[in-house]
Amino acid sequence: MGKDLITLKNICKAYDGTTILDDLNLSIYENSFVTLLGPSGCGKTTTLRIIGGFEKPDKGQVIFDGQDITDLAPNKRQLNTVFQKYALFTHMSVAENIAFGLKIKNKSDNYIKDKIKYALKLVNLEGYENRSPESLSGGQQQRIAIARAIVNEPKVLLLDEPLGALDLKMRQDMQYELKRLKEELGITFIYVTHDQEEALTMSDHIVVMNQGYIQQEGSPETIYNEPENAFVADFIGDSNIIRSTMIRDELVEILGAKFSCVDKGFGNNKPVDVVIRPEDIELVAPEDGTLTGVVTDLTFKGVHYEMDVETCGRELLVHSTKLSAVGTKVGIKVDPFNIQIMNVPVSEDEEAISETV
Ligand SMILES: Nc1ncnc2c1ncn2[C@@H]1O[C@H](COP(=O)(O)OP(=O)(O)OP(=O)(O)O)[C@@H](O)[C@H]1O
Ligand SMILES: [Mg+2]
Repeated sequence: MGKDLITLKNICKAYDGTTILDDLNLSIYENSFVTLLGPSGCGKTTTLRIIGGFEKPDKGQVIFDGQDITDLAPNKRQLNTVFQKYALFTHMSVAENIAFGLKIKNKSDNYIKDKIKYALKLVNLEGYENRSPESLSGGQQQRIAIARAIVNEPKVLLLDEPLGALDLKMRQDMQYELKRLKEELGITFIYVTHDQEEALTMSDHIVVMNQGYIQQEGSPETIYNEPENAFVADFIGDSNIIRSTMIRDELVEILGAKFSCVDKGFGNNKPVDVVIRPEDIELVAPEDGTLTGVVTDLTFKGVHYEMDVETCGRELLVHSTKLSAVGTKVGIKVDPFNIQIMNVPVSEDEEAISETV
């Protein structure tokens, strides 16, 4: 992909004796769109604040472009932050808001004027110079907050749930805008969200966090299709996670039936967790299925039908464009490539996580 721009090395952080981040290691490539994704309280904002210099780690280092910046003040770092609440100055115009940081740096009036124009064009709000922030919609205010950050020409933009306060439609528009903006600016974005769809839509690289640990990192496709554990699988989307037995390489017993798969190296007759996405279960005639079951619930979801299928005392979630009415006896088939095998959690922490799944 590219070279490392920011590296977090062995970062530890505790508040009042409670560990929040425990030996966190993370590398962020230059010019990538990286998202920290995880449930509330998992340490996303803390991680971002450590990168931004607003918070000091108890242990570990923050490396920026090869240099240790762990002790460097926020304003000396080549990055800018956009927060969830736009924090615009309401007594100033849009232009004055954007100019604020540049005036502190004693830039010339002409330079500032050009920058304001450039930034407003980038965020699609040309001509808004003299408006007051209060006269703008939430989405427009957030764009101004972004414009204010980018006129400083940071190498990295840190964004902490910047779309959290917006309604769904506006959020989707802004997701697209942010992606475009990142391409146009050619800088690194580090984005924090607890919304998995947002993360999947925008990112080049997703870092899934839980309880201060990185659970998995990778491309959106990898995270979605090849979750490494039950927490990631469950957090990233509706999934069927079934405790099963790996009989040998490429053969797994799920709910008493043998399924071919493509995974190897899990050992023989070993317990594993299997993830099957709802859209990857194929409902066929009973005699053609590897397992049989009965449809117990059906909901129309617009693009597809969502069905519960009971088999061997388990409910499986199935998404399909083909309708099978409640009460229908069905066969269940899964393509070997769509069976994802994961190790059964070992540590107590992981066990606790999988119990909540
Ligand atoms: N200044 C602080 N003093 C004490 N505890 C803190 C402080 N900042 C954060 N914490 C705690 O650290 C944990 C992680 O907080 P953090 O803000 O990093 O979570 P988050 O992943 O950003 O969550 P959210 O999605 O809700 O914003 C939480 O339990 C929080 O209460
Ligand atoms: Mg947060």
